[in-house]
Amino acid sequence: MTQTFDLILSGGELVNQDGRGQRDIGVIGDTIAAIGDLSRASAGERIDCRGLTILPGVIDSQVHFREPGPVHKEDLETGSRGAVLGGVTAVFEMPNTNPLTTGEAELADKVSRARNRMHCDFAFWVGGTHENVADIPHLERLPGAAGIKVFMGSSTGSLLVEDDAGVSRILGATRRRAAFHSEDEYRLNERKPLRVTGDPNSHHVWRDVTAALQCTQRLVRIAREQRALIHVLHISTGEEIEFLAAHKDIASAEVTPHHLTLSSDDYAHLGTKLQMNPPVRETHHRDRIWQGVADGVADILGSDHAPHTLEEKAKPYPESPSGMTGVQTLVPVMLDHVAAGRLTLERFVDMSSAGPARLFGIARKGRVAVGYDADFTVVDLKRQETITDQWIASRAGWTPYHGKQVTGWPVGTFVRGAKVMWQGEIVTPSQGAAVRFHAAL
Ligand code: DOR
Repeated sequence: MTQTFDLILSGGELVNQDGRGQRDIGVIGDTIAAIGDLSRASAGERIDCRGLTILPGVIDSQVHFREPGPVHKEDLETGSRGAVLGGVTAVFEMPNTNPLTTGEAELADKVSRARNRMHCDFAFWVGGTHENVADIPHLERLPGAAGIKVFMGSSTGSLLVEDDAGVSRILGATRRRAAFHSEDEYRLNERKPLRVTGDPNSHHVWRDVTAALQCTQRLVRIAREQRALIHVLHISTGEEIEFLAAHKDIASAEVTPHHLTLSSDDYAHLGTKLQMNPPVRETHHRDRIWQGVADGVADILGSDHAPHTLEEKAKPYPESPSGMTGVQTLVPVMLDHVAAGRLTLERFVDMSSAGPARLFGIARKGRVAVGYDADFTVVDLKRQETITDQWIASRAGWTPYHGKQVTGWPVGTFVRGAKVMWQGEIVTPSQGAAVRFHAAL
């Protein structure tokens, strides 16, 4: 009897837990139903993927999409449009919106704004604060919650838990892995006079290596005391990579495309566009973060997509806000590193799909396996393109990579069986849904 599927991706090279090789994929409804030679099977739609490579859907577990609040920079629809145009199938969005995502009502509001309006799947980080500690066990398990996020150093917005006692209480309450912006607020305050008006290159002098390292050391000590799991976001220093290597039992680490691709040399031509928290630093940090990728100390990639308009960015430093777009460029920028031999494709999949699923306990995502969600990032490893501001769907309308030539490009994005993006066009109306987690099933 001929097998029948709703969708077959045929003739592509698949990269998954089974290695790398030519395999067809059969999808029924939103689920992967078969992997192998499906040349004799029938399908509602058969997509010829010869010459293309199929990856498990890329999950970006750190984006700021600004809704509700400063939606002139971004909203959930535009942010997720950028995500799927860039090959990203699910995002975890950050709580520094307005109002802050710190309670059940604010989380439910985001979930209802996102459902069937976002183009990709989604979860929302809930901000941990001094005030909501007692609610954390409940909040972190609500539908659509990615977990608890804490800012230990001030960045965009007002979320802040700078003190050991506050972090300790939060980590005493979490059961899931909590995510941290790790920069020491006390040191940032002391060093504020080091900011040089009009010189964004002083940003990494102000927010220095010690501010990041010291905070990460405090955080790991507290996590050990509380027997809690932590996730250190956007590692910017070689020192933290080397320190975290000794704490892999409790601490996971995220690295970003900008810390792996750009360096303080780029302040000269990017100016405040490069201004980011934690900062982009000297090339030797970039090299040591790459070492962390090679060694496996760095667990996952996240873009930290943090859009601000060009007008806002044009303010003289330090009035200019910190942040740059990134969700749409994560895949092409990292595929270009693959093409240059700095990263294997298997390791990219480990860091962008299997890794987030493993760290955060995502149900049915992170691998191309029968019974899993049919989420695929289809890429052309040989395609050469130039990244431009015009390609960027973000309301911010710019990218620090404008003019960068890359080899490797996302050509298709499938979310739970729906062909959402194909060859640069969004071809299916938005039907994003909340990511499900083992801890909250
Ligand atoms: O540079 C940053 N911008 N770092 C953050 O932690 C927040 C982000 C934003 O929301 O703009």
